Amino acid sequence: MSHPHDALRIDADRLMRRIGELAAIGPIEGGGSSRLALTDEDRAGRDLVVTWMRDLGLDVRIDGIGNVVATRPGRIDGPAVMTGSHIDTVRSGGRYDGNLGVLAGLEVIETLIGAGVETEHPIAVAFFTDEEGARFPPDMLGSLVYVGGLGLEDALDIEGIDGSVVGDELDRIGYRGTHPCPGPAPHAFVELHIEQGPVLEAGGHTIGAVTGVQGISWTELTITGQANHAGTTPMDLRHDAAYAAAAIACHVRDIASGMGGRQVATVGRLDLQPDLVNVVAGTAVMTVDLRNTDEALLLAAEVDLSNFVEGVADSEGVRVEARSLARFEPVVFAEAVVDTVAGTAERLGHSVSRMPSGAGHDAQMMARICPTGMVFVPSRDGISHNPAEHTDAADLAAGADVLLQTMLALDRRASEEGEGT
Ligand code: GLV
Ligand code: MN
Ligand code: MN
Repeated sequence: MSHPHDALRIDADRLMRRIGELAAIGPIEGGGSSRLALTDEDRAGRDLVVTWMRDLGLDVRIDGIGNVVATRPGRIDGPAVMTGSHIDTVRSGGRYDGNLGVLAGLEVIETLIGAGVETEHPIAVAFFTDEEGARFPPDMLGSLVYVGGLGLEDALDIEGIDGSVVGDELDRIGYRGTHPCPGPAPHAFVELHIEQGPVLEAGGHTIGAVTGVQGISWTELTITGQANHAGTTPMDLRHDAAYAAAAIACHVRDIASGMGGRQVATVGRLDLQPDLVNVVAGTAVMTVDLRNTDEALLLAAEVDLSNFVEGVADSEGVRVEARSLARFEPVVFAEAVVDTVAGTAERLGHSVSRMPSGAGHDAQMMARICPTGMVFVPSRDGISHNPAEHTDAADLAAGADVLLQTMLALDRRASEEGEGT
């Protein structure tokens, strides 16, 4: 069945211009951006996007954890068809991760306003606080609080890798809002994001209809041995935190290669103290990131890690404390939304692949409270969390058009089903 707004398309030049302007805040060599959550750079990025939201006449609301939701009213004053993502980045961030989803959402709304299209439901675009979790673990912090998965007070108390605290930093940058957490459940949520992996490009697909997100397990290990003289301490008398950390890092790789399939495993941080050439390391702090689409396999990887850590602690005579930084089970998106994304992309003439997401996303939190899906566009060479992150402008525009038409379809389906009338 065709609909009156089937031919509506976003303005690709306007979208690219905004992506460029936002990327210019916290610029880093290679064309990327560094806007760790709740830093001055994050504040400047937030201020710019909020200005754009207000310029469109949207109702802009900031909640207690600093999530920002901008809404255009619909014919029905009920739950919104919502999109969004994040504008915080890792320190080595590209210009598209998260930013694309927020700015494409803004572009969808500006397109609807420009064409005078009235929707049944309100249409909302959000950016969530600290999706990356790189400064304040866990990742997806803002959306987790939005859906009630973590209490606001607990979230405000989280300490970052630099010793700062979420609540203090929100106050400092002026983004501790007054709207309540958890937030209102949308009618549906769909997020556009770059794939950040190689699958779409390798398959020659323009659009990914994302079926779900793999489970994530982040652990911080603090290893305490004994700092000692590198020249005088016999090998069999050492309690070497660097050795224990290195053995664990190698085993982390072995876990993934031994399990195969979708298991991935990463040691992304390693801090040795006293960090000197002629001193056996007394302490090591390291992180382990394990992910799998299958919860049972992810659990098995966690058990393997913990057994190995115990063994190394014993044999090297070091103490290891483990602290969970994040633990989220795999998420399966609503079939109806995945079908809508795939069907819309096909109607727009794109080659589509149904695929799970390897990265974490705010959509995986929103899936707890409403029918949710995601749209992926290709990442050149599968590179992300790196300034070299790139997606062709034509693919960015294709993704934004699929987002626009998917949101219109979700809005229409609800009204065709008679909901809210
Ligand atoms: C967060 O976006 C992650 O996937 O690490
Ligand atoms: Mn992201
Ligand atoms: Mn990211």
